[in-house]
Amino acid sequence: FYPQRVTIWEVGARDGLQNEQTVVPVATKLEFLGRLADAGLTTLEATSFVHPKWVPQLADAEELLAGLDHRAGVEYPVLVPNERGLDRALAAGVGHIAIFASATETFAKRNLNRTLDEQFEMFEPVVTRALAEGLRVRGYISMCFGDPWEGDVEPEQVHAVGERLLDMGCWQLSLGDTIGVATPGLVEDVIAGFDEIDRLAVHFHDTYGQALANTLTALRCGVSTVDSSAGGLGGCPYAESATGNLATEDLVWALDGMGIEHGVDLDALAATSAWMAEQLGRPSPSRVVRALTG
Ligand code: HMG
Ligand code: MG
Repeated sequence: FYPQRVTIWEVGARDGLQNEQTVVPVATKLEFLGRLADAGLTTLEATSFVHPKWVPQLADAEELLAGLDHRAGVEYPVLVPNERGLDRALAAGVGHIAIFASATETFAKRNLNRTLDEQFEMFEPVVTRALAEGLRVRGYISMCFGDPWEGDVEPEQVHAVGERLLDMGCWQLSLGDTIGVATPGLVEDVIAGFDEIDRLAVHFHDTYGQALANTLTALRCGVSTVDSSAGGLGGCPYAESATGNLATEDLVWALDGMGIEHGVDLDALAATSAWMAEQLGRPSPSRVVRALTG
């Protein structure tokens, strides 16, 4: 039922830090990324080329990329919403970007200042140019399982947005539970509506403690790429009630128990999250981190 191997898409440096009260110094971010690579993670979402006023926590994207010690075999994708963001990402030498769409009208407005349809007009030239430059483009979809303003979200709405992103040229779709309200039955329903399940990834926030249950459900449905964040950091400044992502340690602990390969050294990772928690001045919300480092 479960895949033999899971690819972990580590979002700690981007999703994890975009919602922090304080701006983490770039040197600390670079050390964080270095330690995550040392722990065996091979996809490290590094930052976002969004408007610096919208997300001041990541306004140092250029500086971060310039200081990055690129490790062999490690990819450093970044979020890009529009052509201005793409210009910046290209100038920084990025090889892999992610656009981020909304499944709902309200969140498109709040997160991107666009209507649902206008978001595609914004993405279209980004994807066309990025592909022409030889970049890989991932597509996120937010609010796939519920929206704080609109309530329930119909799976058909998620599929419609997903199809448009795939048609545009995204190689993978990450289904985001931005506010962490999904439960396993709904996860099955949303995934079942997609034709190409091998092109899906899942991205659960852990607001209601369901992120791991939802992730394991997705794995049983045929998904094998999972987004998670070291120490369970994360959240979205433009979504009410969004809390941290599924902690990478929680995921790795479960995968280890099930004999599923992932390539990560759990002790090194937990030590990194404990160190990052010290930098941020508060304990990691991950119980696995606390159990291993307490
Ligand atoms: P806007 O205000 O509509 O932008 O914001 P605009 O296109 O009207 O441009 C206004 C000015 O901003 C212009 O400058 C642009 O050049 C500048 P002016 O000509 O007036 O001097 N500008 C930029 N500057 C730097 N970098 C840029 C950029 N773009 C425009 N990229 C915009 C539209 C999309 C930019 C804004 O809404 C934005 O930055 N949004 C990002 C919000 C965000 O980062 N949210 C968190 C990430 S999504 C997430 O966390 C969910 C996820 O984890 C999955 C899940 O959990 O569901 C992925
Ligand atoms: Mg997120």
